[in-house]
Amino acid sequence: METSERLPGPVSATAGPAAPSWRARFAVGALVGAAVAGARRRGVRGVARRVAAANVAGLEGPKMCLVVFGGTGYIGRATVKELAARGHEVVVCTRSKSGIGGKESLEDVQRSFAGEGNITVVEGDVTDPAALDALFASLPRTAQGAVCCLASRSGGRQDSFDIDYQATVNCVEASRRAKLAQFVLLSAVCVQRPLLAFQEAKLKAEAELCKEGPMAYSVVRPTAFFKSLLGQVKGVKGGAPYVMFGDGTEVRCKPISEEDLASFMADCFWDPAKKNQILPVGGPGPALSFKEQGELLFSLVQQKPNFICVPYGVFDFVQGILDFIASLFPSQSDLAEYGRIGRYYAEQSMLVMDPATGKYSEELTPSYGRTDLKTFLTEALQEGSKKLESQQLGEQGQSLALAPLLEFGRGKQVDFAASFVKDSLLPYWKN
Ligand SMILES: NC(=O)c1ccc[n+]([C@@H]2O[C@H](COP(=O)([O-])OP(=O)(O)OC[C@H]3O[C@@H](n4cnc5c(N)ncnc54)[C@H](OP(=O)(O)O)[C@@H]3O)[C@@H](O)[C@H]2O)c1
Repeated sequence: METSERLPGPVSATAGPAAPSWRARFAVGALVGAAVAGARRRGVRGVARRVAAANVAGLEGPKMCLVVFGGTGYIGRATVKELAARGHEVVVCTRSKSGIGGKESLEDVQRSFAGEGNITVVEGDVTDPAALDALFASLPRTAQGAVCCLASRSGGRQDSFDIDYQATVNCVEASRRAKLAQFVLLSAVCVQRPLLAFQEAKLKAEAELCKEGPMAYSVVRPTAFFKSLLGQVKGVKGGAPYVMFGDGTEVRCKPISEEDLASFMADCFWDPAKKNQILPVGGPGPALSFKEQGELLFSLVQQKPNFICVPYGVFDFVQGILDFIASLFPSQSDLAEYGRIGRYYAEQSMLVMDPATGKYSEELTPSYGRTDLKTFLTEALQEGSKKLESQQLGEQGQSLALAPLLEFGRGKQVDFAASFVKDSLLPYWKN
């Protein structure tokens, strides 16, 4: 990156790993086109424009070679683009078939990053430590850092353990063996009150990463993603009521956009204050309850608020059915876990918990970034906007995992509760 393109920033010369060769260009792999350098410069200017309003640490800092695991997911993809736009050389480790439903080939992924910067897509198996060693050894330039945005796509108990824990630890350990200077891990704020299998898996992975050693760590624990809050947008726009549990005021979150979160993750490499830290982070603006999210939506679509309040007790009924199905059909055992997940997000705020009181605290939840939910929705609801389409739910959000509930549901409330769990609560956990 030319000097004229740099923004002044507070990151000190010691913020990143000593990199005598960071000015040298990465010998680009066969998959990287010649147009990359120009695109990279355009990308950096794009970032410069974007950060003008964001509270990022700054754009100054060493340009590193960074490996991203889980770079084909919702947050991973945004992080890859952000790192490349900041001038880093990014290697995306992916499987041969990736994305929602495994529909994307290696070439599709490479194409999707075209023009975004110096990004190389390579195939690698995160479940195989030897394959990860081989990947690091094959890089034309020594990597200095890694980012892990891996998360189970199916969300099942075993898959959560396999990916959110074991594959993540494989990446951590391979990064240690490759003598990387820093590892940034995407986790979740909800692990502070772990009641679910995937939260246990994540906490165990965090613990492995945070062990003392020469490799610095940053554990990023975001609150709620935008895509997790959009399950009822279409319905409300089409005249349906907004469904919430209790009176809709008890549970709140400070949602963060994928771009802002990606920016925060990228800051970890340049901001010394983010090294060897566990970093909860929410988006800008005040915490919003379910009711406030609904009110915002009704005001933006210019409709009279129309809420349906579902009593929390519905969960006991729902959980009973799920437990029963799981006991009859062991192959459906994840259903019971899905029910617990739904209940968790209906009852727990996605905010930092005050250790002194055990209560969720808006004040203790750091705000970062520039896009709040209102700004996003205002743009997304404009005629011709494709913004909602880019907030695609993952497999379990689209799956029929909770369809049996709809079959069993006789009363309207159960019906609403089931679709609410499927469309609005399950996505929190993973989508
Ligand atoms: N939803 C929320 O509101 C929220 C809030 C805070 C934190 N979180 C946390 O954020 C994470 C979800 O992030 P996300 O939405 O970006 O996830 P995502 O879109 O589902 O992406 C998951 C990534 O992991 C990869 N992966 C999964 N299984 C794999 C396997 N067997 N082998 C190789 N790669 C595999 C996927 O690769 P493929 O493309 O190859 O499948 C993909 O790149 C979760 O850990 C969640 O707890 C979520």
